[in-house]
Amino acid sequence: MVFGTDYYPEHWPEDRWPTDFRLMREAGLDTIRIAEFAWSLIEPREGIFDFDWLDRVMSLAVSHSMKVVLCTPTAAPPKWLMDKHPEIYQKDEFGHVRGFGSRRHYCFNSEIFREYSRKIISEMAKHYSGHPNIIAWQLDNEFGCHNTVRCYCEDCSSAFSKWLKKKYINIDNLNEKLGMAFWGQHYPSFESVILPAHTTCDNKAFGMNAHNPGLYLDFCRFSSDSVYDYSAMQVDVLRAHGIDVPITHNFMGSFFDLDYYKLQDQFEFISWDCYPNIAHGPFSTLSEVSYNHDKMRGYKNKKFWVMEHCSGQNGWNYMHETPNPGEIRLWTYQSVAHGADGIIYFRWRPCLFGTEQYWHGILDHDGIPRKRYKEIKATGAELRKLEEIIEGSEIVSDVCIINSFDNEWSHTYQKHSENFNYNRILYTVHNAITDLGINCDVVDMNVDLTNYKLAVLPAYNISSEADAVKLSKFINEGGNVVITFRSGNRDEYNRINGLTIPGYFRDICGIDVINYDAVGDHKRKVTSVAGPLEADTWCDIIDGKDSTVMGEYLDAFYRGTPFMTRNSAPGGSVYYIGAHLDRDGYNRIFRQITLETDVTRCPFGTVKGVETVTRTDFSSTYIFVMNHLDTPAYISLDKEYMEILGEKNISEVLRLGPYGVAVLTDKV
Ligand code: GAL
Repeated sequence: MVFGTDYYPEHWPEDRWPTDFRLMREAGLDTIRIAEFAWSLIEPREGIFDFDWLDRVMSLAVSHSMKVVLCTPTAAPPKWLMDKHPEIYQKDEFGHVRGFGSRRHYCFNSEIFREYSRKIISEMAKHYSGHPNIIAWQLDNEFGCHNTVRCYCEDCSSAFSKWLKKKYINIDNLNEKLGMAFWGQHYPSFESVILPAHTTCDNKAFGMNAHNPGLYLDFCRFSSDSVYDYSAMQVDVLRAHGIDVPITHNFMGSFFDLDYYKLQDQFEFISWDCYPNIAHGPFSTLSEVSYNHDKMRGYKNKKFWVMEHCSGQNGWNYMHETPNPGEIRLWTYQSVAHGADGIIYFRWRPCLFGTEQYWHGILDHDGIPRKRYKEIKATGAELRKLEEIIEGSEIVSDVCIINSFDNEWSHTYQKHSENFNYNRILYTVHNAITDLGINCDVVDMNVDLTNYKLAVLPAYNISSEADAVKLSKFINEGGNVVITFRSGNRDEYNRINGLTIPGYFRDICGIDVINYDAVGDHKRKVTSVAGPLEADTWCDIIDGKDSTVMGEYLDAFYRGTPFMTRNSAPGGSVYYIGAHLDRDGYNRIFRQITLETDVTRCPFGTVKGVETVTRTDFSSTYIFVMNHLDTPAYISLDKEYMEILGEKNISEVLRLGPYGVAVLTDKV
């Protein structure tokens, strides 16, 4: 288990560094991540490399037995480089240059930038290869942050032409596959194909995007691939210079422009940046954050690190709420429970200057260790006691949600209904399931489904015959599937496939969707095996054919028709949910579905606001119970457990204080 902090020695006088290292070690912090924005200090002028200051930081790391994650510093290209080669800058969709003054001001397709990146990374790798304290390298910082995956510059334009040519071979094929007959958009050559930037018909105020959906989807894929290639170049350079420790990159839960399922294959482990208090509220950590942890674990189906873990109040121009006492500990446990075996707190000390003056860290601006320092120190000491469990146990899930970047991109461009939000649908379904005390993986369609009892495909629209075949096989072998509205109806070119909805999944669902209603915010009443519920956003109007109807609409002209069905096959069942519900509605529906499909859940009942994650080392079970409420919580237990943190046996009722955590085991 790694327990550390993101450190920026370049922001502080050198005579303070020894104090920082001493305080870190006293708090039990054993790792620093450094240098992701330090290009202008390492190469202050072209070709002049200065490693002296960084060497002195590394010497302190050695003398304090501090492990180091060293970063390639390409997230902040220096001014001398940008002045010499302004063509490196990105251009936005209006053709404006995204200039100097913050960070990430480079285009992934700039050959010039790639060359300069190679140079600095080679120099760093040569200098630090084999350093005993470096346990990992991080590439750059948050590829895609500040909407920088998609760029509209000349380099991207010619790279896009080449990308399309490779894919479609001849231009007639592209015109046909992408449907350029519409509005007579036939392209005479690959070189003439545009980047889908802002166009005459776009109207952001009304959410109108007018480009050809197929071309737009290809542009999203191309942009994501461009980052992939740039990242691969960095990995190659490091490996070529003898770097043999793991390489990672810090992902983000709230970035959607970069296909992390592809990118993950370059890294030995995934890390991500977790800031629960940006969306502070009693259930924020239980919703998106919990979903994001499961998503991160799913990219490699492996434990991960939190490379930047919230350690205080956050903010740039204004600040978000201050974490309540106990919340940093709680969020740390939440990360660990979901699979983090590395926690690096962002940041050691808030800056006295620069954009992030208000982004707090473990210390305060005055460098004095106070409440947050003490909370993190105590949390670290506790985690050390759990180390064996954290390292020796796994999160095993009977349920998976199938996620897809193609669908994210397609749904976001054409939203179907005013408030349709693919990510929100996914995490609402995820929360509904995990609220039942059920572990839930978030994976993509390449996953081995045989590990699961239930696969859930929310709004899985861009799909294929092959997906249907894979699901059929899974069902024949006893697996169960949930498919929702807006699934099965588009092909890989983002064309509507013209099949009766749910298209590729029509046979396995055993229904026909004969009409639909994009209801937006309007509510539609339904009743079901889970009782009366409310739907919004989208309502499919269904001919249930021979399937079992599990619920019907009570409103609108489709009152009395099914909104939910079950098609039972000899192996398993396929459930179709035709309308979007809220978290509570999905929760009640999934209570029924998971009972019918024999999904394993936490053996004791759950309480609203209290999260459980069950881990196993295949002989014993460890249940992390986390109270996200600011009031005490009482949890009725099914039997006696050993509570590991307090080292005592608890039977009947577990009481957790506000933001309290318990780790229960049945190990005797
Ligand atoms: C992260 C980023 C950090 C820092 C932090 C606070 O997304 O990786 O460099 O900017 O946010 O804004």
